[in-house]
Amino acid sequence: MPVPAKKFYLTTPIYYVNARPHIGHAYTTIAADVIARRHRLLGDDTFFLTGTDEHGQKVQRSAAAAGIPPQQFTDEVSASFRNLWKRMGITNDDYIRTTEARHHRGVQHLWRELEARGAIYLSSYTGQYCVSDEAFVDLPAGTPCPDCGRPLETVTEENYFFRLSDYQQPIIDLIESGTLHIQPDTAKNEVLSFLRGPFTPFLDEFMAQRVKQGKELPGVYSSEDIRAALVAGRLTGDLRISPKGFPYVPGALKDLSISRTTFDWGIPVPGNPKHVVYVWLDALANYVTAIGYGAEDRDDLTAEQKLDEQAKFARYWPADLHLVGKEITRFHCVYWPAILLAAGLPLPKSIVANGWLLFEESKMSKSRGNIVRTETILDAFGDEVYGKQFPDSTKADRDLFAADVLRYFLLREIPFGQDGTFSFDALITRYNADLANGYGNLVSRTLKLVEQNLPNGLEIPQTPWLCPDRNVFREGEEPKSKEEARSGTHFIISSIKEFPQFCDEILWPDHKYQIALGEMALRVSFIDSYLSFHKPWLLAKSKDPIDRAKLVEVLYTATEGIRILTALLYPILPYATASVWRQLGLGDIEEAARNGELKDLKWGGLKPGTKLGPLAPIFPRADKGLAQIMTDMESPTPAPAEAPSTEPRTSNLEPGTSTAPQPSNLEPGTSNLISIDDFAKVDLRVAQIVVAERIPKADKLLRLEVDLGPNFPRRQILAGIAEHYTPESLIGRKVVIVANLAPRKMRGLESQGMVVAASIGPAGAPVLAGFLEDVELGARLK
Ligand code: MSP
Repeated sequence: MPVPAKKFYLTTPIYYVNARPHIGHAYTTIAADVIARRHRLLGDDTFFLTGTDEHGQKVQRSAAAAGIPPQQFTDEVSASFRNLWKRMGITNDDYIRTTEARHHRGVQHLWRELEARGAIYLSSYTGQYCVSDEAFVDLPAGTPCPDCGRPLETVTEENYFFRLSDYQQPIIDLIESGTLHIQPDTAKNEVLSFLRGPFTPFLDEFMAQRVKQGKELPGVYSSEDIRAALVAGRLTGDLRISPKGFPYVPGALKDLSISRTTFDWGIPVPGNPKHVVYVWLDALANYVTAIGYGAEDRDDLTAEQKLDEQAKFARYWPADLHLVGKEITRFHCVYWPAILLAAGLPLPKSIVANGWLLFEESKMSKSRGNIVRTETILDAFGDEVYGKQFPDSTKADRDLFAADVLRYFLLREIPFGQDGTFSFDALITRYNADLANGYGNLVSRTLKLVEQNLPNGLEIPQTPWLCPDRNVFREGEEPKSKEEARSGTHFIISSIKEFPQFCDEILWPDHKYQIALGEMALRVSFIDSYLSFHKPWLLAKSKDPIDRAKLVEVLYTATEGIRILTALLYPILPYATASVWRQLGLGDIEEAARNGELKDLKWGGLKPGTKLGPLAPIFPRADKGLAQIMTDMESPTPAPAEAPSTEPRTSNLEPGTSTAPQPSNLEPGTSNLISIDDFAKVDLRVAQIVVAERIPKADKLLRLEVDLGPNFPRRQILAGIAEHYTPESLIGRKVVIVANLAPRKMRGLESQGMVVAASIGPAGAPVLAGFLEDVELGARLK
């Protein structure tokens, strides 16, 4: 009887819809996709969930500011996440939106379950609330939010509370015992110290005595000391010791307010619709509602469908892995387990936190305005690198190619769990070094040699090896070069043969992608040096049968090495490795993954007579100028005078188009006051568009020439409006331009000013400013 597949359920956080996706979101999603692909190739019945978090005051306010109903607002932004994941080839099995009926029913079911088990009570609460983080903060009024720095609001509410305080000790025990696995240790320790509460003040007096008596070093508290302190009755207050011997302050974990009455964009509390469910309880529940929790309450399903949903829940819950960003570990490692315990549901097995992507030295986030859109990388690498090499390629192919580049970079460059800096230069440098000049070049070089010299396909070499290892030398003998030391066939085989197991056992389970890919690059360089050392192109010219046998040995070894490295790289580079697999003559890599051919990799998998598929470049080199192209695509319009505390611009606008400040970001007429002199510095003028044309390979930009009347020369402006205006519709149109903006170069063209437009809706669609009356060209706006 076949063994039933092990299940593996993994999730990403569901992303807030108040910001458009950026590469910080893509980072977590990419990591999840890599893990999902790996589990699928291992044969696990894998379920990979992602989605969007759509309720809460923040979203309601953003929608109001954009002047559209919240549902329409969330529909648009949620679709932008979903479309991006499609463009990137992300293989999520489901996509949950918290505004869906299935989630709505599931959350209410969970609420009723918690209520029935006595875990919820009604009470009133006054506190400082951070609207941006959707959380009460235990700080005096007037203090800024410690997490995001925005002003806290005093909120008094009659709230439902969850008895979180009941779970302090159980959760400490679960984490300390490793039953609830949290990675990395920094995240685990942070969660534990939150759960344990501030216990050192209880010990200070006692420890001070011990230090004075010379029995202790300052600041070192062992669990023995703490026990001794307890026994001696020397602790002020009630400090306890966990079964693992660590102290904690009972009561440090407070009950959690889980409903709101100050806004209504949320899921109504069952039986008291004045309240909506707290957005974090709502959001966390997605992990169960997406796989059928509460399906019995759904009136849109038949009895049979309900049973299917319940079976799905029984099959996949608990989650094997919640992947989260490090800032939301507390919600996942404290609140969520407590809610599950209270509802009588099993706990997730593992919570793994990724670090932050930093850009221009701080966490990439909408509120800081320092985001890089994933689309920029897809368009730049896809069009400028892949598209130039393969002009007939489809946009889908270009996107998938570029997605591979980003996947590789993020996992290779940043130790998983730590923060890492993103820059366009680093992306290009890493791409060229590891992928274009490294792996891609090795594949092309090797396969070309095979194609030219072994027209009947690969042959299996005979042992003993004709290219012996040179790393063991007779006394006094030195290798002539590093290449020589590594030139043995045995050296190459053993460095590759052991590697899959090392990855399986050490690297993958601990998410050590950076190390795994570094090791991979090293092995690429070994094979490369092996080829350079033995020069198969010369061996091929020799008439000597030994040389011919050497040729077979060298080419088989290099090609088989590539096969194994390619199979290992598949979860990270699914598009590129698919091409290499075809070129190796092995067919469809997705099918190979499904058939288990990419696991338990053994040396010697390439059979004699294996014929290569058609050869093609894998990773064309990227020009350094690409960094400027990406910077131009990203760098938004110089923002109109903005107060520092306001949310900066969304970056989906191209340079050359000035838009009114995003309503969600600036309160008109309040925080961003400027003097009349400041305004007078901006030279706004009426101009007429006389030329409008698309710029090749720039989907969003139009090149305009505008006429400002007889007193000014004609000028060229690049405007990011190509997705919203056809060039034909613009000819003859009178617009407003900022005439004294410093010129800037984009795509090699100079933009001399910008066109003024309003920014509409969450997508920031531009609408050009114009006049109802006929206005003279060159007239100044005052
Ligand atoms: N909606 C909540 C999560 C609810 S889960 C039940 C939320 N959303 S978020 O959109 O603000 O961020 C979600 C996740 O996106 C982060 O936890 C992290 O995984 C990822 N990232 C967002 N910005 C990031 C960086 N700059 N760097 C790395 N990851 C980032 O929190």
